[in-house]
Amino acid sequence: MIELPDAASVSEQVAARLLTERRFRPEQPLGLATGRTMEPVYASLVRQLALLPEAEQERLRERWLSFNLDEYVGVPPGTAGSFRRVMQEQLVRPLGLDPERVRLPDGLAADPDAEARRYGEELAAAGGIGLQLLGLGLNGHVGFNEPPCEADVACRCVPLCATTRQANASGFSGDPGAVPRRAITLGLREILAARSILLVVTGTSKAGILRRLLSTSPSPQLPASWLRHHPDVTVFADPEALG
Ligand code: GLP
Repeated sequence: MIELPDAASVSEQVAARLLTERRFRPEQPLGLATGRTMEPVYASLVRQLALLPEAEQERLRERWLSFNLDEYVGVPPGTAGSFRRVMQEQLVRPLGLDPERVRLPDGLAADPDAEARRYGEELAAAGGIGLQLLGLGLNGHVGFNEPPCEADVACRCVPLCATTRQANASGFSGDPGAVPRRAITLGLREILAARSILLVVTGTSKAGILRRLLSTSPSPQLPASWLRHHPDVTVFADPEALG
């Protein structure tokens, strides 16, 4: 557990870890997340990359490979709520990356279950995740692994909880009813297979779920609790999240 004085320091340190991973351990892809927690992390990453010598920046761009955790089903990639669009705006465009090297499930695939299997296979063929970045859902989800959730579930199409649709309404003009009912998400299986995991938790809204996470033993009721079985997890938190 690393407690830092504020969310800005958390973002700086997490971004530095992501950059170091990409520079010195390029043999496995990065695992990326979306959400409000990650916005300042990606902004820090963009700033830190710009400070590197131009040749090193170019080398990083050429070698970039990341797999996002999840994507909504049925949301066109150009629309505001889509995670592909979020990645485009927060990472691909500012870093000048080839969008092909920032992978996400295809939320518009005709058969989302088949697309989830394909995405999981694509990740496995790329060597699995090296460093996995995770946010924490208000109900304890990671990716879109909603409770109850077992530790061995693989990439799949899942229904979203009402609370999650409420929490993510801001991407859909504030209307929870407009948030898709389903998403494709990497499972705990792929997440726990990552070599290292960074769980980033900031803000007062996460204080309750973080307290639960730190005080309960692993159970399906709190999907993030399965992270306790992983040998290399670092929790980055600010004082607000730690209550
Ligand atoms: C979302 C995403 C997760 C994210 C989490 C927390 O629904 N599927 O990948 O990490 O919930 O989101 P936020 O950072 O906005 O609180």
